[in-house]
Amino acid sequence: MPRPRKLNIAMVGLPAMGKSTVAAKIKENLEKDDIKVGLFNNGDVRRRMIPGNTSHAGFYDPANAEAAGLRERIAAVNFAEAKAFMAGGGDIAILDATNVSRKRRDTLREQLPNHPVLFVECINDDPELLALSVARKTRLPEFAHLGEAEAKASFVTRIGYYRHIYEPPVEVRDLVRLDTLNNRILAERVSAELPYYGRIRDLLMSDWIKNLFLVRHAQSEYNVKDRVGGDSSLTDKGRGQAWALSRHFIGTPLPYIFTSTLARTLEMAEPMLETRKGQTIHHAFPEFDEIGVGACEGMSYAEIERDMPELFAARARNKYNFVYPGGEGYATMAGRVYRGIKKALYLSGNSEHIMIIGHQAVNRMILSDFLFRRAEDVPYIFIPQDKYFHIVSTQTKKLFELRKY
Ligand code: F6P
Repeated sequence: MPRPRKLNIAMVGLPAMGKSTVAAKIKENLEKDDIKVGLFNNGDVRRRMIPGNTSHAGFYDPANAEAAGLRERIAAVNFAEAKAFMAGGGDIAILDATNVSRKRRDTLREQLPNHPVLFVECINDDPELLALSVARKTRLPEFAHLGEAEAKASFVTRIGYYRHIYEPPVEVRDLVRLDTLNNRILAERVSAELPYYGRIRDLLMSDWIKNLFLVRHAQSEYNVKDRVGGDSSLTDKGRGQAWALSRHFIGTPLPYIFTSTLARTLEMAEPMLETRKGQTIHHAFPEFDEIGVGACEGMSYAEIERDMPELFAARARNKYNFVYPGGEGYATMAGRVYRGIKKALYLSGNSEHIMIIGHQAVNRMILSDFLFRRAEDVPYIFIPQDKYFHIVSTQTKKLFELRKY
């Protein structure tokens, strides 16, 4: 079969919108099929070409003519390298840069005239995610000389400069606009003969979870008493299990661990964070807090059955839709848990391995996002405390395994 024609892909978007993650996703996945994909990142060229530090916002100020000239040269080098790669047998070149001005996109097409260009515009309007992404960016070595607040302010100023010159890519022929938080295509204008597009489109909408380890916290004080709600600590046995989990994952890089904000998941993560200092970033998300039990706070199931028999029966009749008075239900917590998953996946980008340490009800909801389960069965998914779920969900592989630690 003849190889399809070649394709250039140009990312478009402000800094910290998820462009590089999308670019890496396209490259890694298409390469599995022996398609030769080259990634041309302006930031990499900048760090290679300019020995001085270019992380300060002034370097991105459009009014700074000298820096603007340098940035044009960086872009030109990138175009030339992409062109050479394609001439040398490459199939797809991905130009990973902001490409927010029309002038820059015109230059790109002039410099890469031999193959069509698909513009992939990345959007993420979520202020919380943006703030978290900025924090992640400013942990890069090039910001090491600045204090945290200063680095963040500098990056936000940089985004502002790009926002100022942003011209939506209305003029281009082939465009897909992507909501990178939700893997959702917002707009699409693509000619029928654009090579590889069917595969790429599906990829843009697919999960990219290489390895997610979904863990429930180990035994807590309340678990022993069969009580719901509260914010109890792990028991001695639970702490032992937390260490066992940490030992089990020795040798597995875990760049990100996500927990809830409750003591039992924080304590569960402790041994792992202690033994992986500087190698693991921890985020505690309220989205992963256990189901709010409202009026039943601190009660045991037996007490609820005895003292609130109607409530107990109502829950047994329709557990998924039941909402604790003053609290939550499975149905009402779905939105926040799914948002937590999106946040975790967005922040961890193309990490090989990530871990979420959650709770019984929360983990059921997380699982329901990956497994086809009827809603009424979700509140009964078995969530053990000495095993974890290993989940892979990519365009080409779905794996779901319960493993002991
Ligand atoms: O019992 C532990 C626990 O995590 C409680 O905090 C929570 O209310 C409960 O599990 C959720 O499970 P179920 O919906 O089966 O009561």
